[in-house]
Parts: sequence; C-alpha cells; structure tokens
Amino acid sequence: MCGRWRQRVRLQAHCGAEDQGRESFAQNRMLSTSQIEALETAAAASAVIRVEDMHKYYELGETRVHALRGVSAEIQRSEFLAIMGASGSGKSTFMNILGCLDRPSSGRYLLEAIDVSKHDKRALALIRNQKIGFVFQGFNLLARTTALENTELPTLYTKIEKAERRKRAVEALAMVGLADRAEHYPSQMSGGQQQRVAVARALVNRPSILLADEPTGNLDSRTSVEIMEVFQDLNDKGLTIVMVTHELDIAQFAKRVMVFRDGKLRKDDAVLNRPRASEVLKTLPTLED
Ligand SMILES: Nc1ncnc2c1ncn2[C@@H]1O[C@H](COP(=O)(O)OP(=O)(O)OP(=O)(O)O)[C@@H](O)[C@H]1O
Ligand SMILES: [Mg+2]
Repeated sequence: MCGRWRQRVRLQAHCGAEDQGRESFAQNRMLSTSQIEALETAAAASAVIRVEDMHKYYELGETRVHALRGVSAEIQRSEFLAIMGASGSGKSTFMNILGCLDRPSSGRYLLEAIDVSKHDKRALALIRNQKIGFVFQGFNLLARTTALENTELPTLYTKIEKAERRKRAVEALAMVGLADRAEHYPSQMSGGQQQRVAVARALVNRPSILLADEPTGNLDSRTSVEIMEVFQDLNDKGLTIVMVTHELDIAQFAKRVMVFRDGKLRKDDAVLNRPRASEVLKTLPTLED
C-alpha cells in the first residue's frame, strides 16, 4: 500500500459514519501531515478500543507460549472489524483480552479511555457486564429456557427492575428480527435463529461493543449471511462490532479486516466495495428452492 493511500485508509478507519464529510474534506484539500496528525489525535481520543504494544504469555509448566507479540491497534466507534489468521495465530487471545475475560501480560489496553490492564478480576467483570456483549461459535443457550428468557439472562446480574429487564429483552429480540419467536425453546428454532437469540442476549445490556468469535462457524452459507445481515444492520445503527472469522467471504461484510500471524498483526486494511448481506441473500437459494 503506498503512503498516501495508507493515510487515506487510516483516516477512513478513524472517521465515524457521521464524520465521512471530514474524510472527503481532508482528501479534497490534501491536508498537511501535521493537520492529519491533529485529526488523528482527536479521533484517537474517541477510540472505543486502544491497544498499545500488547503481549500475552501463557505459562504451561516449563514452557511459555508467547500468544501475542506486541500488538498495537485502535478501533473507533461504529467500526465493523473482522479478524482473520491461521489457527493459533492469537485471534481468540486478542478477543478475550478485548472482552476483559483475560488481561495482557504487558502493554496497555484502553476501553473507552479506561485502562483495563490495571484492574483486578472483580473490576474487569463489572466493566465487561456494562460495556461488552459476546457471541460465540456455539450459541450457548439454555435448553429449557425460552428465547425471551435466554435473552433476559445477562440483565439478572444488574440492578435493573424486572419490568424494565423484560422490556429490554423484548426490544433486543426485535432488533434481531425474532419478536415472533419469544416463547420458542432453542430446540424449536433453526441454528440461525438460535444464533440470533445469542446476539439478542449479547445486546440486552446495551453494550458499547459486540465481540463475536467465529459467530458463523456452525452455520451453513445462507444462514451465515443472514447473521451478517443482522450485524450490518446493528452496525448501521452505530454498534461497534469485532468479529473473528476463518472465512474470507464473511470477513468482506465488515468495514475493516485485520490479519494475525504468529501473535502479530500483519495486515490491517479497509474493505473496499463491501457487499450488503441483504443483497447477497437475494442471490442465495432458500430451503424451499
Ligand atoms: N489458556 C491457554 N493456555 C496455554 N496456551 C494457550 C491458551 N490459550 C491459547 N493458547 C495458545 O496461544 C496461541 C494462540 O491461541 P489462540 O486461541 O489465540 O489462537 P486462535 O488464532 O484463536 O486459533 P483458532 O483459529 O484455532 O481458534 C496458541 O499457540 C495456543 O495454543
Ligand atoms: Mg480461536
């Protein structure tokens, strides 16, 4: 990538949807380096996530696994980021730290300007519950519990009143297009519907960021694109999304793709001409076909 193009991509990544005007403003006027740096500093202050020279070691008896080897990155509000890389390259380790499920061995992690690296487990749990929604490959729904009750679950650990909790769960199910499945049990829903309940459950505490580790790993092609439709829709409404995937065609639905190799960030590019999942779905066969 040539220098000017890289600057453009960095600016693009730094500017939120509402700031698209600023991006074209900068491009049209060919801003000086110092002006671009000033813009970038302002954008950095509004970063949802900022990671600086992050390392993670796992101690396994005598051996030490160096899972992350100096990762630095910034993720802005309303970004939709896909993380790719070979098995063992550090993707889940990175996501677990972003999600406050684990702490870096060294380096800094700022989540909405809070220095997460300095907090203990108890504080991390609080931060996690307030700011982060998780979606995993296996949907992890409770079998004897309806879609609505599954969605409501994370609110039980908050001080929100019962009526409000129910209202939020109903809203979250509606956001993923499952308002009419509230009373269904997991066994009465398709894989894609179960994953959508898992997304609703991740959204119910109104997090700042949605983290998804291989959310389409257990789904067929069409159902995977349906989940991407939900993600693009939520992202259009301003939700920041970070998603790990092994599939390039799924990563292309994001706005930006990072590639990890051997614990390092090797590529970080904006997605050009990304497809709309809703359009792609029109070209894919349905079950009835
Ligand atoms: N809890 C752990 N204890 C020891 N080593 C670990 C632990 N978790 C991960 N590792 C090691 O750290 C490295 C990175 O693992 P990680 O799970 O982040 O990879 P990944 O990119 O998510 O792979 P995959 O695509 O297979 O999910 C691997 O070498 C792995 O064996
Ligand atoms: Mg993984």
